[in-house]
Amino acid sequence: MNPLRSLILAAAGSDAIRRAVATAPGTRSVVNRFVAGESTADAVEVVRQLAGEGLQASLDYLGEHTTDSSQAERTVQAYLALLDRLHAEGLADRAEVSVKLSAVGQELDEKLSVDNAYRICAAAEQCGTTVTLDMEDHTTTDATLTALADLRRTWPWVGAVLQSYLRRTEADAAALAVPESRVRLCKGAYAEPADVAFEGGHQVDLSYVRCANVLLEGGGYPMFATHDPRLIDVLGERVRWYGRKQGSYEYQMLYGVRPDEQRRLAADGETVRVYVPYGEQWYGYLMRRLAERPANTAFFLRALVSR
Ligand code: FDA
Repeated sequence: MNPLRSLILAAAGSDAIRRAVATAPGTRSVVNRFVAGESTADAVEVVRQLAGEGLQASLDYLGEHTTDSSQAERTVQAYLALLDRLHAEGLADRAEVSVKLSAVGQELDEKLSVDNAYRICAAAEQCGTTVTLDMEDHTTTDATLTALADLRRTWPWVGAVLQSYLRRTEADAAALAVPESRVRLCKGAYAEPADVAFEGGHQVDLSYVRCANVLLEGGGYPMFATHDPRLIDVLGERVRWYGRKQGSYEYQMLYGVRPDEQRRLAADGETVRVYVPYGEQWYGYLMRRLAERPANTAFFLRALVSR
């Protein structure tokens, strides 16, 4: 992994650096580029704007690595309030929610996090929408896939995320390429050791295409989460090769990243879903986005040297 990327991902765990970045001049404008706002109303407003442009959304209430059960409960309540609001405003068919198990208590008590995820899925069903379980670092992959299998026994539409940088992922994709299964395929955003993850970008891309083939060949609903222009071209070709019709798969991108490409794909008739994070705990999310793109890191370095 590129050393600057590793440094930024390591900084995501540092309180001192979090304080430096949070108070650095210009932070707000960078946060605003990637985060919809802090409140439920801000998130719903962004869903409405995206819907006006023919785009779907997946909303993420920011927060992760909760080790406090009252914080986990606040996160559940935030999702329940959000789902209510989407339903009340007639937007539940335009937006689903993405949930990190570590935000609802996975590190505290695995059973608590699965119970909390159950509550969010039950509310999503009542509102007429779906839930996708985000995937975090490799130490949580087994637990998250086990929780997914558990939730899917009641709600087969609960979505999974697979990361093509993990060596195990092609096998996980094969296990999940079944009817009704929704699988978001991404490259992966955490700093991972070489024994579990491919190191070179090219290897990660090749793995992405192999996993995409497995998902397209199977009976599920693949959700291709990438901004990579080369991969998007290859996916277009693979989709045609497997005879997949538009609407039997979708593209996904992050809020604030390649918005023109999001609109271009939607104008071509593709289903495009934008991942929209909101809430006060934006730090870990922002660090992963900065680490993805060297051009974004100037901001991060300025924040450090201005201390
Ligand atoms: P890559 O990083 O190679 O970027 C390709 C091109 O896209 C860049 O050259 C640039 O033009 C543009 N780009 C990408 N990121 C950018 C940025 N931050 N700012 C500006 N331009 C950028 N990961 C994970 O581990 N678990 C998860 O649950 C999820 N969930 C998820 C949902 C959705 C909808 C998306 C799109 C992504 C995720 N990810 C994720 C993140 C994912 O793993 C990955 O880190 C990013 O999508 C970046 O990878 P790309 O495929 O875009 O390629």
